[in-house]
Amino acid sequence: MSAPKPLIAGNWKMNGLGAALAEIEALRAGLGDGTAASAVDIMICPPATLIGAMAKSVEGSPLAVGGQDCHAKASGAFTGDISAPMLADSGASAVIVGHSERRSLHGERDSDVKAKAVAAHAAGLQAIICIGETAGERRLDLTLDVIARQLARSLPGGVTAANTVIAYEPVWAIGTGLTPTLADIAEVHRFIRVKLIELCGESVALQIRILYGGSVKPENAAEILTIEGVDGALVGGASLVARDFLAIISALGKHSA
Ligand code: PGA
Repeated sequence: MSAPKPLIAGNWKMNGLGAALAEIEALRAGLGDGTAASAVDIMICPPATLIGAMAKSVEGSPLAVGGQDCHAKASGAFTGDISAPMLADSGASAVIVGHSERRSLHGERDSDVKAKAVAAHAAGLQAIICIGETAGERRLDLTLDVIARQLARSLPGGVTAANTVIAYEPVWAIGTGLTPTLADIAEVHRFIRVKLIELCGESVALQIRILYGGSVKPENAAEILTIEGVDGALVGGASLVARDFLAIISALGKHSA
């Protein structure tokens, strides 16, 4: 079976006013006629306020738009929250769920992440489910235990390679400039694949994209994206500037060429 088509997704977090759409124009220009992008799926997850406008500005390009979080319910008295059908209605085709900043700053548990992934699927959105250990957990050699637990508890039923992506993001690597060794990334990705086979069956599990996230930069993208079992990247800081994001995408191109 061939390896899944890689995905490079940018998570803008709480960054970006309307002027940031200029970066989308620069991305489009940098991707040219799309041939460079045809071997890879590319997505930007802007703040919810920009989804509608960004969805318009990517029309006719290889770029997809995703949300960064959704509520588990489709509608209701949840002031300030945004539902999966609303994201879809605004032009998103995917949503990140269970990002470590949601888990740590908003107290989201695995059960919440699972409920959000269910809501995403029900709205026709691809769920990008984030998992990863903290620095303390890695020090205590608990990384694989944490990964196994988060996967088992966060993954909804009915997972397919089309509706679900896993992002392995060590919490201590996010926004810090630190990354695990290439061997450590490879080990965790192998372990996730084995667990996915147990949870979803081999034919689905072998096609699910497992992204690495945490301080992916133009300088380290080629070596990280070349690791066997890494099917792309979830990029935070370096996705805010088109030039850097394009460099990461082309690092992948070099690897698959
Ligand atoms: P970073 O963030 O690339 O800025 O480390 C990654 C993420 O939080 O998805």
